[in-house]
Amino acid sequence: MRHLLGIADLQNSDIDTLFSNAQTFSNQKHPATSVWKRKKLLTLFLENSTRTVVSFEAAARNLGAEVIHFQAKSSSLQKGETLIDTGRNIQAMGVDGVVLRSDKSGSPQLLAQALSIPVINAGDGMHEHPTQALLDTWTLHKHWGSLQGKRVLLLGDIKHSRVARSNMLLWKRMGMDVSACGPPTFLPLGLDSVWGVKRVTDLDQALETADAVYCLRVQRERMGAMLIPSTTEYRHFWGLTRKRTSLLKKGAVVLHPGPTNRGVEVDPEVADGPHSKIIEQVQNGVWMRMAVLDWVAT
Ligand code: NCD
Repeated sequence: MRHLLGIADLQNSDIDTLFSNAQTFSNQKHPATSVWKRKKLLTLFLENSTRTVVSFEAAARNLGAEVIHFQAKSSSLQKGETLIDTGRNIQAMGVDGVVLRSDKSGSPQLLAQALSIPVINAGDGMHEHPTQALLDTWTLHKHWGSLQGKRVLLLGDIKHSRVARSNMLLWKRMGMDVSACGPPTFLPLGLDSVWGVKRVTDLDQALETADAVYCLRVQRERMGAMLIPSTTEYRHFWGLTRKRTSLLKKGAVVLHPGPTNRGVEVDPEVADGPHSKIIEQVQNGVWMRMAVLDWVAT
């Protein structure tokens, strides 16, 4: 067994295995044999989620697992019990794996150190969201085949985004040409020196040459004070509007991890338009999470 806490846990050969197994699962929803048959998976979500929690549950059920939802709001965490004590008790009750989402960066690492069952990071604070990056990158891989040299533009709130962090790590690993554009208050320090990501200032020019645009949500809940004057202004300068989208190359694709702030970082016509891969990302998420569940348990 192993954990998936961040992209660094994956060798390049693991990424190949996950892509190929996700493909197999997409053709054969309910595999005849599965290491998860009659095993128990706990979804320990301490922060809101729609796609990720449902996707993990669907994936686990497809593999024959029983899914137990942790009721965070009515749990003893509210009485001051620690995450580690919670995890140890859950393990003692015969749970075979934990999917953890937390608003605190580093929580999955902490839990993994205390448990001898797989821990999967479903998003920790502003740190990482490895399964989202895997499903996004697999979506691009399915579209193009090779990812080498493909130009992807991260647009918007990169600083507060765990999705951006995991994707930057994975895309660089796949040899992609990654650049970022957004208000200076939304760009992390060391974008170039630490992450190897180019900062571009002319959004329109960047859109003309991009093979993919990855739009990020304006994450109001992760900002101390508003870092942008208003959402109207944000849309004006940085939003993926219908007008701006007309600058894209014919085959270019638009991705977004969801939830979308329609009319802020992306116009509804773009989210639902011909360039958009947003619903395909969500569909692919189930197959990718089946592959991840299989990978951690073998
Ligand atoms: C993301 C998350 O929660 O990190 N959503 C998701 O998992 N699909 C992105 C976000 O909240 O903006």
